[in-house]
Amino acid sequence: MAELIVALDVQTREEAVAKVRAIGDAVGFYKIGLELFTAEGPDVVKAVKDLGKKVFLDLKFHDIPRTVERAVRSGGKLGVDLMTIHSVGGKAMIRAAADASAEFGAAGPKILAVTVLTSLDRSDLEDVGITGRDPADQVLAMAKFATAHGAHGLVCSPQEVARLKAALAAGTLFVTPGVRPAGAAVGDQKRVATPADAVKGGATHLVVGRPILAAADPAAAARDILAQMG
Ligand code: C5P
Repeated sequence: MAELIVALDVQTREEAVAKVRAIGDAVGFYKIGLELFTAEGPDVVKAVKDLGKKVFLDLKFHDIPRTVERAVRSGGKLGVDLMTIHSVGGKAMIRAAADASAEFGAAGPKILAVTVLTSLDRSDLEDVGITGRDPADQVLAMAKFATAHGAHGLVCSPQEVARLKAALAAGTLFVTPGVRPAGAAVGDQKRVATPADAVKGGATHLVVGRPILAAADPAAAARDILAQMG
């Protein structure tokens, strides 16, 4: 059964808490990203946890292994449930993140690897020295690499999840943004899938922001997406 995560893409702790309260029991999982965390810090994580919700802290760490290990430990102490790292940080960094998570046992933050940012195309990859490879093939190679070195899952497009799932171990987490209910505004997302198709492809968690946050009734919008997830 896939889980719905609402992206709390707002600027203040007050707005974040108001959105979580407005959505109420419909959703139990929220993503806090760079914008909100940089503005409000760990207090906003605590506020969402205090409302009884799970937190996906999406800060996409990419640093030396010791620093990432200590940052994941800090996330574990806050009770964070999911965290992101860049797979290009290398195997020692990925392993350090996984080891810090393991210190918290089953309750530790699960480590999700970012493979290739969806904003990068083939020529962007060439600019940074990755030549002769399609982004989709680079995604698959980095997904295998990250999970082989301890990542619990991946952030990926709903359009690539089926290919990744077929190539990776059972139990791997697949967290997909870029989800839009049929007929909803796409915004700046370029390659979207419906909730039903994301789940069918094998996503374990769907991340949805604007279709819920901008709705007149965010709880109803969330329930509608949950119904479409089956
Ligand atoms: O509002 P929307 O549903 O497009 O929000 C999607 C969330 O997922 C945003 O927080 C966005 O930053 C994040 N995300 C994404 N695409 C990626 C990685 C993250 O949309 N490739």
